[in-house]
Amino acid sequence: MKKIIINGGRPLKGEVTISGAKNSVVALIPATILADEIVTLDGVPDISDVASLIDIMILMGAKVERDGETLVIDPRGVQDMPMPFGKINSLRASYYFYGSLLGRYGQATVGLPGGCDLGPRPIDLHLKAFEAMGAKMTMDGSSMNLSTNGERLRGTAIYMDTVSVGATINTILAAVKAEGRTVIENAAREPEIIDVATLLNNMGAHIRGAGTDIITIEGVDYLHGTRHQVIPDRIEAGTYIALAAAVGEGIQINNVLYEHLESFIAKLEEMGVRMTISEDSVFVEKQENLKAVHIKTSPYPGFATDLQQPLTPLLLTANGKGSIVDTIYQKRVNHVAELMRMGATIETVSDRIVYQGPNQLTGAPVKATDLRAGAALVIAGLMAQGKTEITNVEFILRGYSHIIEKLQQLGADIKLIGEA
Ligand code: UD1
Repeated sequence: MKKIIINGGRPLKGEVTISGAKNSVVALIPATILADEIVTLDGVPDISDVASLIDIMILMGAKVERDGETLVIDPRGVQDMPMPFGKINSLRASYYFYGSLLGRYGQATVGLPGGCDLGPRPIDLHLKAFEAMGAKMTMDGSSMNLSTNGERLRGTAIYMDTVSVGATINTILAAVKAEGRTVIENAAREPEIIDVATLLNNMGAHIRGAGTDIITIEGVDYLHGTRHQVIPDRIEAGTYIALAAAVGEGIQINNVLYEHLESFIAKLEEMGVRMTISEDSVFVEKQENLKAVHIKTSPYPGFATDLQQPLTPLLLTANGKGSIVDTIYQKRVNHVAELMRMGATIETVSDRIVYQGPNQLTGAPVKATDLRAGAALVIAGLMAQGKTEITNVEFILRGYSHIIEKLQQLGADIKLIGEA
């Protein structure tokens, strides 16, 4: 079993560079299946979700070459084959194979997606959209079969009952080669959606409105090759900004797009965090006298659910009483019990997280229950006096590129031990 061991209480200093966005790349890789030529992706993060997707692509018949952060994908040999088990179940974003395979072949048999346990994570909106475009759905054990019986998918008007990143991207993937026009209303507006649309448009797709709540797609027959730079990971950036405010004595975070983090930065400013924002970097000073705040997550451009857990350790350093309400995933509170083990004054009251600061944390054995809870525990471990031992770190390695090396470079006493 792999573990992260941290000897906390050391001040960190220096520079760190943010990698490409996990939530973009997990859609960009399956999106390349739709291409009729070779696609190159630059800025691909070195995370285990990417490794799993590459394995799946190769299994399907794609040629994939990886050189550092560059991925060259030749999707021409991809076969329309059932992908029921194995790696598919290891990540949530495997649902993008439904959209891309359906878009290319009018047929997809793919196992149900896995991923972090944040409470119920249905995919009903994805399936409703595919059905509206003419696909029929049948369940075969734990796999879903979608088929148009040899017909081309038909563009149509789709209203999303809930704002969903995954359902919006999946509908785009299915629609780019469909017959006619698809209009998605109440679409999610996350930057990762714009990134996927940019890749597809550079391949010759006709997608308009990505980044707004109405997206229009005119189907095309052919998608050519292109080269695409993945956007910076705003969640990784937010994690390092929170970490820098909690344990930093001057940390510069590079490759940050401030406009993707406005609601997060506004909250930090409300807390009294001192930082300097430049064109593509943020410098975070050493902090004192931070103020407790109330957080409510909501779809982009609101406060990201993925950042409430990584921010929690910093909140614990603030003076006063505050709360977190996650309106996207009400059960995303698994980090709370672990932080209590480290001596934090924090609890959940009917899915609402309530905390009282300031706290001095103490190192303890804790468990990463999901990706972002894991990030919270790393920050808490760096803040705590003494030794913290984090288990279940596979979750953390799914989404944070070279986290151990990046933190060691800042001066952290942190190491990864054990085998997979
Ligand atoms: C994506 C992100 C994840 C982030 C989440 C919310 C990826 C790979 N993951 O996940 O990091 O935490 O957005 O910002 O990009 N819902 C339904 N039916 C559906 C789909 C979603 O009811 O068919 C609900 C969900 O339960 C949730 C809300 O819609 O309450 C938003 O979920 P969604 O945006 O779809 O999340 P993901 O795309 O899975």
